Amino acid sequence: MGTPKFNPEAVTKIIRERRSMFPAQFKENDPVNESIIEEILENANWAPTHKLTQPWRFIVYTGAGLKTFGDYQAELYKLRAEKNGTPFLEGTYQKFKENPSKASHMIALLLKRTEGSGIPVMEEISAVAMAVQNMYLTACAHGLACYWGTGGPTFWAEAREDFGLEGEDMLMGFFYVAKPATDQWPAGRRELIAEKVSWVRE
Ligand SMILES: Cc1cc2nc3c(=O)[nH]c(=O)nc-3n(C[C@H](O)[C@H](O)[C@H](O)COP(=O)(O)O)c2cc1C
Repeated sequence: MGTPKFNPEAVTKIIRERRSMFPAQFKENDPVNESIIEEILENANWAPTHKLTQPWRFIVYTGAGLKTFGDYQAELYKLRAEKNGTPFLEGTYQKFKENPSKASHMIALLLKRTEGSGIPVMEEISAVAMAVQNMYLTACAHGLACYWGTGGPTFWAEAREDFGLEGEDMLMGFFYVAKPATDQWPAGRRELIAEKVSWVRE
């Protein structure tokens, strides 16, 4: 295969203009065509991965599955508050219950360790994060609203078994996808790259 002809301007444009958009900005009850969701997942699968361990796993919630998930995380939030004495806020409970259904699809981001691979967990976390960046870029290229959230059960030990996690497996959060309710694309904000780089030239 010869070197593919890429378009660097197009790559730079999508990288710099990619944005997160949140449930308040989602157009509700208007699902994204599932061929785009399949494309998002396929592109995730092409992330770099040391020793080809391909540690990313996904669970896609849509339709009634979003309500099932919302009910699940709201009830687990309540249970944790009762069991662990962590604060219970009615507003948070309602958000856990209702937010997933505002999306078209919500994709749980899982890290599956390969036994005996010898790959440090940091590298597997990095590989999953690169898969998520592919998802972000693909969703944004289609003009969709999306974001990576690490709320809800992401760090709840009680949820591990429900997600089939063993040993060093991880739940790394949730990737929300929806059509945007507005045609206002969010502005970007970054400190200058020059403040974050040092060069060694000799
Ligand atoms: C690992 C990771 C976790 C994140 N978790 C959350 C989250 O829990 N809640 C949230 O509102 N945004 C979350 N975000 C999205 C950031 O808020 C978003 O990337 C940031 O505001 C910059 O905006 P941009 O993505 O439009 O450039 C997360 C992003 C990353 C990379």
